[in-house]
Amino acid sequence: MIILGIETSCDETAAAVVKKENNKIEVLSSVVASSEALHKETGGIIPEVAAREQVRSIMPVIDKAMKIAASQTPRNDIDAIAVTYGPGLIGSLLVGVETAKTLSMVWKKPLIPVNHLVAHLAACFINTERHTDARDDNFPEFPAVGLVVSGGHTDFVYLTNQENGLNVKYIGGTRDDAAGEAFDKTARLIGLGYPGGPAISDAATKFQSANSKIQNFNLFPRPMINSGDLEMSFSGLKTSVFNHVNKNPDFDKNYLAAEIQEAIIDTLVSKSEAAIEQFKPKCFFLAGGVSANRLLREKLDKKIRSFEFTKLYVPEAKYSTDNAVMIAAYALLFGKTKDISEVNANPSLSIEH
Ligand code: KG4
Ligand code: ZN
Repeated sequence: MIILGIETSCDETAAAVVKKENNKIEVLSSVVASSEALHKETGGIIPEVAAREQVRSIMPVIDKAMKIAASQTPRNDIDAIAVTYGPGLIGSLLVGVETAKTLSMVWKKPLIPVNHLVAHLAACFINTERHTDARDDNFPEFPAVGLVVSGGHTDFVYLTNQENGLNVKYIGGTRDDAAGEAFDKTARLIGLGYPGGPAISDAATKFQSANSKIQNFNLFPRPMINSGDLEMSFSGLKTSVFNHVNKNPDFDKNYLAAEIQEAIIDTLVSKSEAAIEQFKPKCFFLAGGVSANRLLREKLDKKIRSFEFTKLYVPEAKYSTDNAVMIAAYALLFGKTKDISEVNANPSLSIEH
């Protein structure tokens, strides 16, 4: 089975050709064009600008992905087209959905709509960095708990693989800002660039390598960390950083980056631990753009090692942030074909659908 995946939910335009054979996901091509450089100038995404760039990039990106895969699989070998239909920015989503529908008609290939958030979790099934003793030839097992940490979402889900497909149940998450949003907005407050996650991570690494003796970071609060459930809150971090920066105009950027990163990671790791204690899953999937964060991976891996029954799966960093391989992988593993008249962009799609 071979699928062309298309992803245009935000500021990345991505296409990938992916094959599934004997329970193994093989990437034949993966192309990602990002309009990130344009958003660096404005310090964040302007939806209009992102959508216009999607229109510009979509055909060249699909063309390139098909050409790279062509040596291994001509177009006629593709069994289906998978596309992100939500959640995301409406203008951006529409570009991918309408293109996929058109290709589906012209090439006479079935269409598989994919939920972007659940697809992030499917990235754990591709060339996964396997932690905590997960065996090489072993696909992740269910029931599983997933944490999707991206620019717009911080969602815990309980996953079971049932006869009628993958069942996704929301079990907790942020009440306000997403973890990625907290990175992006606080980075801006301390004068670091967009996207804030990698910028904060780099600055924090600089601080830590120059000050390896400093182990305790507790300048900023961790709201709800002891709430006894899987709820989180990150919006207060912005206010704390804002107040600190105003009171201390000579602040050390790298030090504050380390403090911000620790505050966000502490909360994510502590809530992940609570989720594992409560649900005792066979696997824990950490996915979404923020899962590219090295310190988060290390700290969660260390924590999960103390649970004998749960293995941690984290995608390779290039499949943590938005890409089309995860869209095709989801379709190959769990996707269902729909008539093109039933496939519509849905910007506020929930993780359970
Ligand atoms: O999943 P993603 O690529 O796009 C969305 O679906 O939102 O996630 C983007 C988010 C941004 O907020 C970005 O700052 C964050 O992921 N991010 C990171 C890192 N790389 C990307 N956050 C922390 N550390 C990173 N290394
Ligand atoms: Zn994403």
